Amino acid sequence: MTIDVDPEWWKTLFDEVYLLTDARSVNDAAVTRQEIDIYLALAPFGSEDHILDMCGGHGRHALELCRRGFKYCTVLDYAQALLDVGKRTAAAERLPVEFVQGDARRTAWADGSFDHVLLLGNSLGYIDDTDADLHILQESARLLKPGGGLVLDVTDGAAVRGQISPQAWHEIGDEVVVCRQREINHDRVCAREMVMSKADGLIRDRTYCIRLYDGTQLTTLATAAGFEEVEVYTDATALSATIDAGCMNHRLVVTARKP
Ligand SMILES: C[S@@+](CC[C@H](N)C(=O)[O-])C[C@H]1O[C@@H](n2cnc3c(N)ncnc32)[C@H](O)[C@@H]1O
Repeated sequence: MTIDVDPEWWKTLFDEVYLLTDARSVNDAAVTRQEIDIYLALAPFGSEDHILDMCGGHGRHALELCRRGFKYCTVLDYAQALLDVGKRTAAAERLPVEFVQGDARRTAWADGSFDHVLLLGNSLGYIDDTDADLHILQESARLLKPGGGLVLDVTDGAAVRGQISPQAWHEIGDEVVVCRQREINHDRVCAREMVMSKADGLIRDRTYCIRLYDGTQLTTLATAAGFEEVEVYTDATALSATIDAGCMNHRLVVTARKP
């Protein structure tokens, strides 16, 4: 069976239900702390640097950087629901993180506004247009100062192709069950996700498709977007190998520099 997907799925999937379904990878403070440790070891930042968490969702990485004393952290995301969650966390902890709604392909900031752009948590490959990811990386390059750094953390396409299970399910607490059906369709992994709550019945039945990249393709893409010194690191995941977090288990971390 082929999983049918609305190409605009990415504009509406990222909400509070997503924070539940993907809680093991994006709503676990220990995982986020470990990821930040990994990124900082690969690409050190200065505490006065301006850092953009591009496609940053509810801002878990920017918030953690701010907790560690990085003063100028900004989150850009399309999903207002996630930005609102992040804003509430920032307000509760008095963290001066800025949250901005927008499309990563074209933002309103001036050229060279940031020292680092982070594109983390598998945030590429969502848009049907084959040039969309190139446009996101070109925009990241435009926003960086000369010599500024990119950190990209995406699913390892080669590992997903070889290892993904066609069916998977997991529980969230005692209340919610997440069931996923998945298939590889050319250069993408497509999934149907059904989420059942004991109290409320079916709370989500959605499909989505994510373009897969291997390390060579990411190097080509980053180079085409104007980056140099592109390095690809494999097996840099903070997630336990004992959970099936789908695309999130196997990751590639890429660092690159704007000339
Ligand atoms: C899997 S989530 C990861 C979020 C965050 N980086 C993290 O690690 O928690 C992917 C995010 O990318 C955002 N996104 C995808 N394409 C985007 C675009 N073109 N412009 C802005 N945000 C985008 C989605 O709204 C979503 O919040």
